[in-house]
Amino acid sequence: MEPLQVLAHTLFTVLLLFFSVTNASLVNDLTASLVQTEDCDSCRDLLASFQTIALTGDDAFISTFVSLCTELQLEDSDVCNGLFSAAGPIIAHDLRQINITGVTAGRLCDALFGLCSSSTATQFKFPLPPTPTRPPQDANKVPVARKRPFQVVHISDVHIDREYTVGADANCTKPICCRAFADEAGKPVTVPALPNGNSKCDSPVSLADSMLDMVNEINPKFVIFTGDVVEGATWLVDQSEVEFDLSSFDAQLLARVKAPIYPSLAPVNSFARKTSMAVNDSQWVYDTQSVGWTPWIDQTSREQVKHESGSYSSLVHGTNLRILSLNTQFWYKQNFWLYDSDTFQPDPNGVLEFMAQQLDQAERAKQKVWVIGHIPLGKEDTMEDQSNYYDQILQRYKDTLVGQFFGHSHKDQFEIAYSDYNNQTAANAVAAALIAPALTPTSGNPAFKLYDVDPDTFGIMDVRVIFTNVSEPSFQVKPEWSTLYSARETYGPLVGLSPHSELTPAFWHKLTDAFVANETAFQLFNTFISRGGAVTVCDAACKNTTICDMRAFRSENNCDTPSGGLTTLRKRSDNTLPIVLREASECEGLGVASLLSRMRLKLKSLN
Ligand SMILES: *[C@@H]1O[C@H](CO)[C@@H](O)[C@H](O)[C@H]1NC(C)=O
Ligand SMILES: *[C@@H]1O[C@H](CO)[C@@H](O)[C@H](O)[C@H]1NC(C)=O
Ligand SMILES: *[C@@H]1O[C@H](CO)[C@@H](O)[C@H](O)[C@H]1NC(C)=O
Ligand SMILES: *[C@@H]1O[C@H](CO)[C@@H](O)[C@H](O)[C@H]1NC(C)=O
Ligand SMILES: *[C@@H]1O[C@H](CO)[C@@H](O)[C@H](O)[C@H]1NC(C)=O
Ligand SMILES: *[C@@H]1O[C@H](CO)[C@@H](O)[C@H](O)[C@H]1NC(C)=O
Ligand SMILES: *[C@@H]1O[C@H](CO)[C@@H](O)[C@H](O)[C@H]1NC(C)=O
Repeated sequence: MEPLQVLAHTLFTVLLLFFSVTNASLVNDLTASLVQTEDCDSCRDLLASFQTIALTGDDAFISTFVSLCTELQLEDSDVCNGLFSAAGPIIAHDLRQINITGVTAGRLCDALFGLCSSSTATQFKFPLPPTPTRPPQDANKVPVARKRPFQVVHISDVHIDREYTVGADANCTKPICCRAFADEAGKPVTVPALPNGNSKCDSPVSLADSMLDMVNEINPKFVIFTGDVVEGATWLVDQSEVEFDLSSFDAQLLARVKAPIYPSLAPVNSFARKTSMAVNDSQWVYDTQSVGWTPWIDQTSREQVKHESGSYSSLVHGTNLRILSLNTQFWYKQNFWLYDSDTFQPDPNGVLEFMAQQLDQAERAKQKVWVIGHIPLGKEDTMEDQSNYYDQILQRYKDTLVGQFFGHSHKDQFEIAYSDYNNQTAANAVAAALIAPALTPTSGNPAFKLYDVDPDTFGIMDVRVIFTNVSEPSFQVKPEWSTLYSARETYGPLVGLSPHSELTPAFWHKLTDAFVANETAFQLFNTFISRGGAVTVCDAACKNTTICDMRAFRSENNCDTPSGGLTTLRKRSDNTLPIVLREASECEGLGVASLLSRMRLKLKSLN
């Protein structure tokens, strides 16, 4: 028999086995629906068959999907089991609460399969006080004399694997390798994991130590950290491991870096909303971080972490700059708790309200604010609604909110906000978000960003990317960190940046124009995305999308193809996927949405 026939036969056998476990006709309906799903309507039909199984209980729901995942050989059985056991009950809970014909079900189809995505936000005017009348300000005005800038380091997506094992196989069949996995014991090692990391594995502790020592050597005024501590073995992670990972990294930061640190909440993908009918299961994360961040933020901010769902605001000592750290997980499409109700909830857990309130106080106190958070607002994996409402707050407080810093994409990127998204010009650019590359070597060379900051305006004078090259032989002995490029030096001449000017929103917009016109400059940027590591070819269509995305602070404006959980796929080598999906961004590690999408594609290919 051909391999596919063997697989189809095995699958049939498994379906028969279900006679004894659950109702075989339910499973038949499910597989038939998966095969037939290709648009929004058929996706709703598919959710109806999911719903039928969910109504028979969480255990049946989990075991159905684990069996399909395992039999279709989408992942090793421990991976299938771990992922569906964690997210399955949340999705089953959602399906028991919502109407399949409603808006929420459509959003769930978008999150799981990239279907039903309208890429439009629900119209809603976020309540904000009017802009005070004051003398017109020229945002791009050059101060008469600039003081010497201070330095800030931005680190992100460290993804430290505390079970990284030197000598374990770096060539394995799981989403991340270099661990002594139970089901691999005794197998001959083909590519032994070396001491400081491998591109198929998350960061060993030694790599994080090396970066933090470099950060300490730079000795910045302060450090911002935009999250993602936990390694990508998402199928094995439980509460105690997350707590251990979070507190271990807090301790590591404290031990190695003497500068103050402003962290933002690192995701555990699923955060329940306060309105959830289920148990309040995320408070432990806020409590853990509220304690873990004691060395860096004061009692008031730590109380905010506990009561504002992980967000806080803190004035940088001796300055007029306020750091506003936001928990962005309530805007993340892969947080499945967001689909548990048909009631429109414009501001889950009041994170946007907290943001607006803090900005208003800062405006009155004539302070400037930087937002730090994990997930940037412009990508396909952010809810269009909250991205739009955040942008409304940004437009209102654009003179106060002078910096925004995110991570999550693992890439060196930026996103521009405009006063008119239909007329994207330098004059209309009102803000730019800077996105830091990752430490984890899974998506390129390990790196962080170093900013030169004007001490009066808190505007950015320069952005440098500091990296270490995993391909250099010295990397496994002692990683060497050096400057990959300076935005001022490399990009400044392309847009005629004047010597005393900040890297304003208009600067970033003009840079996108330069990329459109100058292919060499764009291709240079394309190598910077992965810090010269896993560089992917970017042709004309890819360039068009990439530039469109730079001009999309709001997710409704990006040009990404909706792809459900496949955007979070980490295994680039999975050639069962269309190329556009394989090249999609790698963020939180393998999730159930990508498994469900691949399940659907594989069943289709078998039919
Ligand atoms: C779902 O919504 C539709 C349209 O509003 C309605 O006709 C139907 O009765 C609802 N179904 C349930 C189970 O509430
Ligand atoms: C990785 O493992 C596979 C399967 O065990 C093997 O076929 C392949 O040769 C290995 N790759 C290397 C570079 O050793
Ligand atoms: C969640 O727990 C915290 C403290 O344990 C409490 O303050 C909060 O009100 C709880 N929220 C809900 C929705 O139960
Ligand atoms: C676009 O914005 C520019 C700069 O603000 C302005 O001069 C121009 O009139 C606008 N065009 C349209 C069509 O709104
Ligand atoms: C195009 O970009 C390259 C690389 O940044 C630069 O060296 C070159 O001068 C640019 N060409 C023009 C016409 O600006
Ligand atoms: C990294 O090192 C390799 C091997 O020495 C070299 O070919 C490559 O150009 C380096 N990459 C960068 C970005 O410096
Ligand atoms: C991308 O392509 C569209 C459609 O061809 C075109 O309208 C748009 O100007 C292009 N954008 C860029 C940045 O090249």
